[in-house]
Amino acid sequence: MAGQHLVIVGKRGVGRSTVAANVSAALAEAGRRVLLIGYDNHRSSACNLAGGSELKALPAWRHGEEPPLYARGYRGALCLETGGSVADDETAQAALLDHPLIEAYRPEFVLHDVAWEPGSSFRLPAGIDGVASVLVVTSADRCALQAVNRLFGWLNTVAAANTRLAGVVANNLTGPLQEAIVSDFAGQSGGAVTATIPHSVMVLVSDFYCQTLLESAPFSHVTYAYRKLAKNLVEAATQRRPRQLDDDAMKKWYGKWGDIIAELETGVVTGGLGI
Ligand SMILES: Nc1ncnc2c1ncn2[C@@H]1O[C@H](COP(=O)(O)OP(=O)(O)OP(=O)(O)O)[C@@H](O)[C@H]1O
Ligand SMILES: [Mg+2]
Repeated sequence: MAGQHLVIVGKRGVGRSTVAANVSAALAEAGRRVLLIGYDNHRSSACNLAGGSELKALPAWRHGEEPPLYARGYRGALCLETGGSVADDETAQAALLDHPLIEAYRPEFVLHDVAWEPGSSFRLPAGIDGVASVLVVTSADRCALQAVNRLFGWLNTVAAANTRLAGVVANNLTGPLQEAIVSDFAGQSGGAVTATIPHSVMVLVSDFYCQTLLESAPFSHVTYAYRKLAKNLVEAATQRRPRQLDDDAMKKWYGKWGDIIAELETGVVTGGLGI
């Protein structure tokens, strides 16, 4: 199936579905034909992109009793929720991408909102290894960044040679300190932050409305951050593969930021670092 496949990954709860829905909406607003596939039980990303439109059962589904649900959403984007059953079934995943409804839609961008527990090994949905790019979402906390490090390792060792990094999205940031943490981490690994999405109560508002920010808050600063991210994804070349830091390097890096944050908080400066 043609189209650019973008897989949204990151630690649980980091904001993958929020990013998936909003970047899909921003791409649709920019005139792109977008398909968003959610593989989770929460039914959140596609629901918000659908903006409250009723999700209907995908017709002629022969791969399990629970058919994926679909709706046309914001600016005509096609929204699919598989409800989790397809997440473990490679035949069903391949069949989904070949479904006549999707073939007829001819998406330019296919976004995959996949579920992943950092304790388990990561796997791409079937049929897209080698043609997919990975958009890694993280917040500025240690566990989320550790998950990013594991994903960088996966990219370098398990993924097909032409599976690329589309970028790192630093999400839910409360200010410049958190921005510096994520950006320093990405830099250490040889990557770069593609988008910085601030923490905003508007994200919660859009969740309660069951819409994306593009629909519920078109002039919010967060919405502009998503527009910028979509533009980057359309225009920018994929990044080169960052490397995974080993345990010692990670420990050192955590220690460095522990010291910096403690110094900022207590005002005690050591090692020549200024506030
Ligand atoms: N930039 C932000 N500002 C404020 N709240 C945010 C932001 N991004 C995400 N959230 C909130 O964080 C919560 C988790 O987001 P989301 O469901 O997108 O995460 P997820 O990674 O998909 O989680 P899960 O692993 O459960 O699927 C939601 O309540 C969402 O509204
Ligand atoms: Mg989710």
